[in-house]
Amino acid sequence: MLEKIKETAEYIKAHVSNIPKTAIILGTGLGELVNHITDKQEIPYQEIPNFPISTVEGHSGKLIFGQLGNKRIMAMQGRFHFYEGYSMQQVTFPVRVMKALGINTLFVSNAAGGMNPEFKIGDIMIITDHINLFPEHPLRGKNYEELGPRFPEMSEAYSHRLIADAKKVAEENNIRVVEGVYVGTQGPTFETPAEYRYFHRIGGDAVGMSTVPEVIVARHGGMEVFGVSVITDLGVEGIVEKVSHEEVQKAAALAQPKMTLIMKELINKFKE
Ligand code: HPA
Repeated sequence: MLEKIKETAEYIKAHVSNIPKTAIILGTGLGELVNHITDKQEIPYQEIPNFPISTVEGHSGKLIFGQLGNKRIMAMQGRFHFYEGYSMQQVTFPVRVMKALGINTLFVSNAAGGMNPEFKIGDIMIITDHINLFPEHPLRGKNYEELGPRFPEMSEAYSHRLIADAKKVAEENNIRVVEGVYVGTQGPTFETPAEYRYFHRIGGDAVGMSTVPEVIVARHGGMEVFGVSVITDLGVEGIVEKVSHEEVQKAAALAQPKMTLIMKELINKFKE
């Protein structure tokens, strides 16, 4: 694994002139952020040694390097989901590569189903913490001390200072944001009403099928993390309605301008 990470990082270094310190995983609802990146250099995933190829509808795969506000950034357009059949090592491989490149802050976004009765479709939820319900752990197996500790601590998986910055940005721009705990599950089924109820009772505010593996690996490597969910459907007790991938995409597209603005301003504002 160490060799592969090194090989991929070397390939990227050879192709990109100015390696950033900040990375963004452009999940559902944040795709449009690429239009704000200037001075772009792009590498399709299929050209990158050891990179998996993304398959799901609505996620095209490439790395984008460029300028966003006052920061140099690397953006992942298209991520790898466990439900697609990738191993946890494949899902999180790009985050290992980020770390090897010297990236120390990771921004992630996703679409999620809201379980908190205060939430509305289209809300932006700042992730304050997560509950990992994936059936397999990305750090299971041999630990490489070069990558991080055997037993990483997770008391502040989502950076408190970045959460505070994000809330300021939202307030300055009059955007309603909510905060909450993200439950990460494998999918690909959406939840039954009983599952939504269960996830809410154990402390979750929103549920989705990504993010948690990447965040675990980022924290293992000592990166600072900020995450945000767009609430695309509701699994609130008594009002669980049918949900489809198309509806998730539609709700995410509607919330996209708010999400893009918050991310863009936050990245501009935070101290690298
Ligand atoms: N459940 C799981 N994943 C999701 C959902 C949901 O309700 N909405 C968007 N991604």
